[in-house]
Amino acid sequence: PRQIWVTRHGESLDNTMGRIGGNASLTKLGKQYGEDLAMFIETKRAEFQDRLFFDVTRESNLMNHGNLSFQGKTYNSSFNNLYSTEHAVSTPIELDPEDEEKIIKPFSVWTSMMKRSMETAAYFDDEQYDIKAMRMLNEICSGICDQHTYEEIKNNYPDEYEARALDKLNYRYPGSGGESYLDVIYRLQSVIVEIERMKHHVLVIGHRVITRIIIAYFLGCRREDIAHLNVPLHTVYCIEPQPYGTNFYQYNYDP
Ligand code: F6P
Repeated sequence: PRQIWVTRHGESLDNTMGRIGGNASLTKLGKQYGEDLAMFIETKRAEFQDRLFFDVTRESNLMNHGNLSFQGKTYNSSFNNLYSTEHAVSTPIELDPEDEEKIIKPFSVWTSMMKRSMETAAYFDDEQYDIKAMRMLNEICSGICDQHTYEEIKNNYPDEYEARALDKLNYRYPGSGGESYLDVIYRLQSVIVEIERMKHHVLVIGHRVITRIIIAYFLGCRREDIAHLNVPLHTVYCIEPQPYGTNFYQYNYDP
């Protein structure tokens, strides 16, 4: 199945100080997360490519003995055990261009335009991944509360703090560009439509609100629950839409 991967950026300097919004860079740990994330996803991508390769090859009934070279990579693992050596052919095997199209699945990596998100994606090989930054994936804009801690908001803007606690979904931060969850849901609509439409895998390196909304959409959560989903840093989610239902996996990072 096609996979939709979602994660938040690696830990940023603002995260360590409990400040919301801003445009901080990653901490050392955050960079480590980016590096390990790229390695983890690369393993998954390669596994998937192996699987596809295997299926296509079985369908076209090719027999192989020895290493099979494709796109500079060598596949020989389970292959030799499963295929008879009688009809061994020498490598490399030329693939039917149509099959090749099935195999070379582009894998997109989408980030926001914020430093912490783009810095997390910096470890992905742009020859293997189609990497794109888009403003629509930016974190919720917290207007006058930007760069504050929740404690500071509570002390400096008690009415705002209260109003948000009462109705997080509808509450819009005051001040220039301030947004509500509903505003972000609205601006994410076209991104979600594109994710649904595309046939290949995608990894979204987003933010807390972005991650909540994407997961909620694909899992069919109730609107009122979206703003309260627990989506910690350094956690990777994998969504596999199926004809009936959706598979959902969570991977926790252990540095
Ligand atoms: O603290 C990280 C962060 O992404 C902030 O930038 C953002 O305002 C906040 O989380 C969103 O979470 P919540 O809606 O729970 O305040």
